[in-house]
Amino acid sequence: SAAEKGGYDYFMLKEIAEQPKAVSDTLLGRIDGSGSLTLDEVRIPPGVLREVDKVVIVACGTAFHAGLIAKYAIEHWTRIPCEVELASEFRYRDPILDQRTLVVAISQSGETMDTLMALRHAREQGAKVLAICNTNGSTIPRESDAVLYTHAGPEVAVASTKAFLTQLVACYLVALYLGQVRGTKFGDEIRDVVRDLSGVSDAVGRVLETMEPVRELARSLAHKDTVLFLGRHVGYPVALEGALKLKELAYMHAEGFAAGELKHGPIALIEEDLPVVVVVPSPRGRSVLHDKIVSNIQEIRARGARTIVIAEENDEAVAPYADHLIRVPATPTLLQPLVATVPLQVFACELATARGNEVDQPRNLAKSVTVE
Ligand code: G6P
Repeated sequence: SAAEKGGYDYFMLKEIAEQPKAVSDTLLGRIDGSGSLTLDEVRIPPGVLREVDKVVIVACGTAFHAGLIAKYAIEHWTRIPCEVELASEFRYRDPILDQRTLVVAISQSGETMDTLMALRHAREQGAKVLAICNTNGSTIPRESDAVLYTHAGPEVAVASTKAFLTQLVACYLVALYLGQVRGTKFGDEIRDVVRDLSGVSDAVGRVLETMEPVRELARSLAHKDTVLFLGRHVGYPVALEGALKLKELAYMHAEGFAAGELKHGPIALIEEDLPVVVVVPSPRGRSVLHDKIVSNIQEIRARGARTIVIAEENDEAVAPYADHLIRVPATPTLLQPLVATVPLQVFACELATARGNEVDQPRNLAKSVTVE
């Protein structure tokens, strides 16, 4: 009913709008004023966490994309090697696991069969499993050694939005917590990231206030067959997530590529007026990556692409090459996916509407897939 949708036409729109709260609720009670983390729910003893020599993340769909982003944070903040694998592939390749492996299973529903089978396999090999889950008491957390709940609230629309953002927050918390427990990350640095994380909810809110041009752009592309997405570093999984959303909702051919890989194949796809969404990293920090992606944008534009550029406020260098410029607030590099994903959700939702598709219940998809 309309009331359940909080006055929005679709649950997806409501859930997109709820993201600032979902993000702050997921941080609530887990960081204290001094900037240290208390994740009491993570009932894996610090002694065990100190011995972990490999992290393996398993998940499906949108949750898998959260895992891909988590890898950058975990390896950067803890220096523990981290692998990310599609849950459906994981156990069939006879993965190398033991008591020193921490497996992180990410699932909104907590009922995805592929993810459940992956975690059972991991536990049989002696690995410790930490679930990141949005559904209290569901199967995946019940069968894990520990759980960190995302506090997104119920997500009804099949295409995941607020759960994804809170999965990212939970992944950052896990990475920082591992760093804190193991002493690889010093108090000051944790404090800085925690402070940055606390500001992200407002930043997401600001993104939501500037989405009208994105909706307009989506409507103007409703007749297109293909949209490509490019990103680099943590922007690469964001590109994959943007493409997945478009497949799920708009039933369009959409693909995400690592921008550096463009020259090794995908650039052959570029043709006149092909929309290409590019997620641009901050010009501060990893400025080398920024320069490289700016030249990627020039390359595809020279070949006729219509460039749709998601860039930080004050990033002037990209402006001349952007046919459409979508601004997001400045955030530290690793946290950028929290703001950069939001326009892609709005874009896909509006395209679905413009194409006459069912937004909350896309064809052929289920919210939770409980078969392998
Ligand atoms: C289904 C949904 C996706 C979701 C995936 C994983 O395919 O349609 O939106 O990302 O399952 O779901 P989970 O509940 O494990 O996060």
